[in-house]
Amino acid sequence: MVSSPSSSILCNSPRVTIVGAGRVGSTLAQRITEKNLADVVLLDIVAGMPQGLALDLMEARGIELHNRQIIGTNNYADTSGSSIVVITAGFPRKPGMSRDDLLKTNAKIVVEAAKNAIAYSPNAIFIVVTNPLDVMTYLTWQATGLPRDRIMGMAGVLDSARFEAFIALELGVLPADVKAMVLGSHGDLMVPLPRYATVNGIPITELLDAETIERLLARTRNGGAEIVELMQTGGAFFAPASATSVMVESILLNQSRLLPVATYLQGEYGLENVVIGVPCRLGCGGIESVLELSLSDGERAALRASAQSVRKNIDRAQEILVAIQG
Ligand code: NAI
Ligand code: 2OP
Repeated sequence: MVSSPSSSILCNSPRVTIVGAGRVGSTLAQRITEKNLADVVLLDIVAGMPQGLALDLMEARGIELHNRQIIGTNNYADTSGSSIVVITAGFPRKPGMSRDDLLKTNAKIVVEAAKNAIAYSPNAIFIVVTNPLDVMTYLTWQATGLPRDRIMGMAGVLDSARFEAFIALELGVLPADVKAMVLGSHGDLMVPLPRYATVNGIPITELLDAETIERLLARTRNGGAEIVELMQTGGAFFAPASATSVMVESILLNQSRLLPVATYLQGEYGLENVVIGVPCRLGCGGIESVLELSLSDGERAALRASAQSVRKNIDRAQEILVAIQG
């Protein structure tokens, strides 16, 4: 009997679809397969490009010592039965642009990607990466009609990793020993929480003066733009792919990690009908719980301001989509 080797292997293995095989998407495919987490389907609108990347990654498997399948495609039918769908399709920033400037171009791309992907993977958990992140996550929630525990956006893990990296550089300590949480929107109004940032349990407020902490916070808020300005041809992708792979890992391995994740709020932190980054426990069901931290008045006000700016852009995105759909 002749059987198809690829289909029999894929049937027994979790599958992650990545829509958008650009810099973030292709690096994420590498991370997921080299961590041996799942098989990956890389989908893009550019003909041949995801197929070429998939072949390149397949040829590295013997060296990297894994047996994960990577398929490149332009057809959503090939994504069927995915456990997780990651949306990275859309345009990155150019120098001088804010993430919000991407709203018009990326809203249509993300809504189409979400609708196409859910049609073939009705049980999938969605992770959105495309900017402006919080708005695109909201649109994905709306387009798929899925419960909020199965839709989330990646930004807080990246913003926290940047804050941690700058603290580690400043103090000359091992980056893995630094833990921090950045909440709020993925933009200028993000809300880093220095009093919750520690080096192996020691609050950074004991190790750094207020002026230094303020400088590190400003660099964190500007973290994406700093890289865009240096590269001039796109944005960050190594750390974004690492941050997304940590979320994929926590879901697939049911690790219950507590991570800052963009989620649809239903009254938590006094906010509703908006997507914003807050601490969430991620496991095999997706967002298993939302943690309500006790915040100072200033932190709460900053989170509210962050949510208001996202809300304004959600309204703008809805108008754009109505105009496009006629
Ligand atoms: P990129 O330009 O390298 O890749 C984007 C890919 O999307 C391209 O290959 C393009 O052909 C594809 N694409 C466009 N329209 C599509 C469609 N309708 N269907 C399928 N694929 C489509 O960009 P990069 O650097 O990978 O960034 C992707 C997005 O992620 C950008 O919006 C960027 O701003 C965002 N981003 C978000 C981060 C976060 O923290 N949330 C971090 C880094 C990037
Ligand atoms: C970043 O923060 C561009 O959102 C992207 O690097």
